Amino acid sequence: MDTLINQIDREKLPKHIAIIMDGNGRWAQEQGEDRLFGHYHGVESVRDIVEGCAEIGIKFLTLYAFSTENWDRPEYEVVGLMELLVSTIRKEAETLHKNNIRLHVIGDMSMLPAYAQQELNEALEITSGNSGLNLVMALSYSGRWELLNAVKSIANEVKNNRLPVEAIDQDVLQKYLCTSDFPDPELMIRTSGEYRISNFLLYQLAYAELYFTNVRWPEFRKNNLYEAILDYQGRERRFGKTSRQIEDAK
Ligand code: IPE
Ligand code: IPE
Ligand code: MG
Repeated sequence: MDTLINQIDREKLPKHIAIIMDGNGRWAQEQGEDRLFGHYHGVESVRDIVEGCAEIGIKFLTLYAFSTENWDRPEYEVVGLMELLVSTIRKEAETLHKNNIRLHVIGDMSMLPAYAQQELNEALEITSGNSGLNLVMALSYSGRWELLNAVKSIANEVKNNRLPVEAIDQDVLQKYLCTSDFPDPELMIRTSGEYRISNFLLYQLAYAELYFTNVRWPEFRKNNLYEAILDYQGRERRFGKTSRQIEDAK
């Protein structure tokens, strides 16, 4: 059998893949370990998936690493996750740079501890000129937080007579989202058998193809990613039209 990677049609790659990296805690508990053990192993998966995306030429990869709601987890887990974030960025920034990967962050950076903000800002700066894969980390992010911010900013522009209400259209709204520089994801993957969005990219996922797998995030590897891409490539994206219309337009 042909390897998975060779079955992928390079002409029909999604430009943007978004992933809800779920299942670290359950995976760890299944090994009789603490939840943080799962998060540590999850970093291995991040490395492998970033490499896999870069290898096949994906332009944008967004990883949901920490949600607005995750702040409500037990303090030791939140602190552990922040430390892991900082140590990982410190270790990986140079490698990202060498591989021409550009790091971006979406979310409420001001909520992160100062030492984490500093580490992230350095990595953003080091990689800012890179033109390969755009790696977007969603940190202290939620779709509702993002939309609320956008609404407030737009309301301010209107209040200050810088934007007429009639001029607000989808293009304007998009400019106020954290993702204004990125195309919408065509493919959204969630690991670990949960079938929900959990406040991820609520606006941007409007027409994304959703792919769910039971594999826990710490065990998710390139081949799992390639399976998801192959599944995506087998789907017909209709955007509200009929199958016949899609066929005729080919
Ligand atoms: C995802 O794994 C990582 C984060 C949310 C930070 P979880 O920690 O949610 O793992 P489960 O879902 O409890 O197994
Ligand atoms: C979503 O996972 C957030 C991240 C993966 C960062 P959660 O584990 O927090 O989501 P729920 O609680 O199962 O919906
Ligand atoms: Mg979870």
